[in-house]
Amino acid sequence: MSKEIKTDLTIEQKVEALLAQMTLEEKIGQMTQVRHFDDISISDIRDKFIGSIIHTQGPTPGNNAFEWQAKFVQLQWLALSTRLAIPMFFGVDAVHGQNTYAGATIFPHNIGMGATRNAKLVENAAAITAIEARATGFNWIFSPCIAIPYNEKWGRVYEAFSESTEITTELAKASVRGHQGELGKQISLIATAKHFIGDGSTDFGVEGGNTTLSEEEVFKRLLPPYRAAVEAGVGSVMASFNSLNEVPMHAHRKMITDVLKGQLKFDGIVVSDWKAYSRFGENEVINAGVDVVMAVEGDFNMYVEGVRNGVLSGVIPQERIDDAVRRILKQKFRIGLFDNPFPDLTLINKIGIQEHRDVARQAVRESIVLLKNQNNTLPLKKNAKIVVVGEFGNNSGLQSGGWTINWQGMTENYAGATTILEGIKKLAKHEVVYDADGSANVSDVDVAVIVVGETPYAELFGDIGGIINKYQLTLTPEHQLLVDKYTAKGIRTVVVLVSGRPLVVTKQIEQADAFVAAWFIGSEGAGIAEVLFGDYDFIGKLPHSWPKSEEDYQGKYGPNFWDDTIEPLFPLGFGLSYNK
Ligand code: BGC
Repeated sequence: MSKEIKTDLTIEQKVEALLAQMTLEEKIGQMTQVRHFDDISISDIRDKFIGSIIHTQGPTPGNNAFEWQAKFVQLQWLALSTRLAIPMFFGVDAVHGQNTYAGATIFPHNIGMGATRNAKLVENAAAITAIEARATGFNWIFSPCIAIPYNEKWGRVYEAFSESTEITTELAKASVRGHQGELGKQISLIATAKHFIGDGSTDFGVEGGNTTLSEEEVFKRLLPPYRAAVEAGVGSVMASFNSLNEVPMHAHRKMITDVLKGQLKFDGIVVSDWKAYSRFGENEVINAGVDVVMAVEGDFNMYVEGVRNGVLSGVIPQERIDDAVRRILKQKFRIGLFDNPFPDLTLINKIGIQEHRDVARQAVRESIVLLKNQNNTLPLKKNAKIVVVGEFGNNSGLQSGGWTINWQGMTENYAGATTILEGIKKLAKHEVVYDADGSANVSDVDVAVIVVGETPYAELFGDIGGIINKYQLTLTPEHQLLVDKYTAKGIRTVVVLVSGRPLVVTKQIEQADAFVAAWFIGSEGAGIAEVLFGDYDFIGKLPHSWPKSEEDYQGKYGPNFWDDTIEPLFPLGFGLSYNK
């Protein structure tokens, strides 16, 4: 810490003492977040007093956790070599485990955690994520997403817990507590509630689109999880790409400054989303109340210069800059960064350990929802002759969804993960046949476990009907063929749907003897097998109502929520179990 600052002061006093010494350039530096590669040079980090660094898609900081830590140690030294020696934050999109690191424990995405309804489990998973994120050098996590999706065409439905405000509120609180630890105790990392606000309820489910909910509906349906996250002490909140009644959220002063910071008394950092400065009106973003900007992909110079000119010309009040910097410094003091600026080497041997994977496996077991089980097809008998069908059945990338190792996810296996087939093989007493594409000539089996689903996607790439439009509300023709082929054989069929949202599968549910909604399960495929074989019961409950037809989706967005005349195929909370 800067030598002039005494250590027996309160955090507020330390913040004020430091702030009083800072130049405008040093303040703007604190408000700047960059990537650890390509945007700016190493010397910029020191010369421009950069306050935080993000790692997301792109070159990794190294080949293993030691190298990741070493990279951040090296960058931290640059920050510490500046006049005031203010250490940096290192942020990461660890949204279902430390998912940017191959070998980390990867949990089911939040939609699955929402199906568990188990706040303690959500807290444990978040605590493990925090350990593995710290082990790879980070002290700021851009999670949890506490959106409330009203339209499953949105490509980020799976990042959110549920369409229910109550479920989301409870799990938001648990997740913040898990990531950061208990309120009042020393914490070592800050979490981020995102994306504030209305991200999941844009009209037609368009990522970054316009939300037309009335202010009353926003307060009633979308704000409670933020209130809970703030009460749990969340260190940061990320502004959203969407607009609220045509006002971009990044420029929404009323919601950010008056509501979030004012009414909710949020005293942490409002961080922008990607490249928000150039996208959403430059200094309007700062004046709306954003404290840290992701000045990435070419935005860096225009951001730093723009804010500087904004202050010098009086467009940005000095008080706004000071508010931002106070918030940033406060969180840095809160996590003890001035005393402990470097990652903890002893955490490295905790990455992907069995104890962590056991919790992820428990999460898989508790998240999968049984939608149909005719003639007690499930549980499978361990001595049954089983064929597992479809490449989703033996591919840990495909089973995990977006934000897994890569931003858009993986279509191959990744380090440390177990596939669904591997899990089934481990428990089966009979040799398990695998038919990757439905072409095998399989007849002498008792039951087929057909795994179908959505190829991983993230953000707007997953929107249905959007500008990219690669995805659909129904199964792909290839996956439909797998179901048709095996149901026509007259053997029992269990369909496992791996998806980021409810899909229109009314027909396939009719065709199959048993049907399981598995969401995106993450690295522990064995959790599926443990429930299919009946070692554990199904306890997952639908976190979304489940539409029966494509037309249903038209009535499921924006101000309408569920149009009262629409009967879902399954209501929110539905889920069968063996014991019923
Ligand atoms: C996403 C955020 C994410 C950020 C940083 C954005 O595109 O909307 O959820 O935290 O990128 O990677």
